[in-house]
Amino acid sequence: MSLIVRPVVGRRAKITALGSYVPPDVLTNKDLEKMVETSDQWILERTGIRERHVLAKGLGVSDMCTEAAKKCLAMRGVAATEVEAILVGTNTPDMIFPATACLVQHKIGATGGCWGFDVLGGCSGFMFALQAGVKMIESGAHKKVLVCGGDANTRMVDYTDRATCVLFGDGAGAVLLEPAEEGEIGFIDFVNEIDGAGGEFLNLKGGGSLNPSSHETVDKKMHYIFQDGKAVFKVAVIGMADVSAEIMKRNNLTGKEVNWLVPHQANLRIIDACAERMELDRAKVMINIDRYGNTTAATIPLCLSEWWLDGKIKKGHNLVLSSFGAGYTWGAVLVKWGIDGPAKK
Ligand code: ACO
Repeated sequence: MSLIVRPVVGRRAKITALGSYVPPDVLTNKDLEKMVETSDQWILERTGIRERHVLAKGLGVSDMCTEAAKKCLAMRGVAATEVEAILVGTNTPDMIFPATACLVQHKIGATGGCWGFDVLGGCSGFMFALQAGVKMIESGAHKKVLVCGGDANTRMVDYTDRATCVLFGDGAGAVLLEPAEEGEIGFIDFVNEIDGAGGEFLNLKGGGSLNPSSHETVDKKMHYIFQDGKAVFKVAVIGMADVSAEIMKRNNLTGKEVNWLVPHQANLRIIDACAERMELDRAKVMINIDRYGNTTAATIPLCLSEWWLDGKIKKGHNLVLSSFGAGYTWGAVLVKWGIDGPAKK
């Protein structure tokens, strides 16, 4: 089979640099054993997680995204003033408004006429922001778009709820999008979906316009992540595998021709099911859930950044990015990688 590459309206888009950041403080499964009735073995077997990072008090998601964005721009030697738009996928913004994108713009000094916004898309937030950024490049509207994914989930987790608190961690990643060179392919296709019928199974009810913060919302623990894990698990396994298989099918790709699956890191069992459906060798699946847990919108850029820095993603590789999250939201992106690792920059 050979890859089908659909034409785009203007220039194709590609990722030209990446950066990531996780806070230094680590919370291990052993630490959690002292907080709730759980065990290292249960967490590892059911989720694949060994430890996760925790953002220090006094800092917000904008600080993590800023660190990731600065590293990303430094990799490419691009000044912050050259960035034309900043998109941030996050579910845990510093505050309801202003948008995290504005805070990041200010903190990195993107003062050259930059605009941007946040994308609240559950664990697919980065993926959706990425597609918006790609379209900004393809349309010819912009030449340098920074896309971040970041979340400080530990701020929203009830550390008396063992079913949820063991899952989540904090972190951020950033990618720079630019027009591809003549003849290069870059981003090829995406399949995204949302289904609000899933909202009741995974949500954070307090502090919005429906349930503004009050003593009652605090007493009822409405400011914590609520998840019916079993219900979400079933749909996530099917959703992530479905979109990943669909994007391969409609672009004429077999598992052999996919070099990397970059899956959202919510649960190792969900990742394995997705890889199996794509008929992919496990060695082609990016997995770092053991070290970071579920960092929601940050999982995919964290993987991409790490694998790229390690030189494991090569120019010309076919990557399938795949996510599932609160909403429900889910999606897959197909990209032909366009840059060598930093050593060959
Ligand atoms: N330690 C020990 N036992 C536990 C723990 C724990 N931390 N948590 C739950 N248990 C117990 C339960 O109480 C239950 O006990 P019981 O049988 O006596 O009632 C038993 O373990 C099994 O519980 P399940 O919920 O059935 O466990 P499951 O195998 O489904 O794993 C998990 C739970 C890990 C949450 C899984 O359901 C999951 O990964 N769900 C999907 C998560 C996801 O993809 N989320 C979407 C992205 S997140 C976002 O968008 C914000």
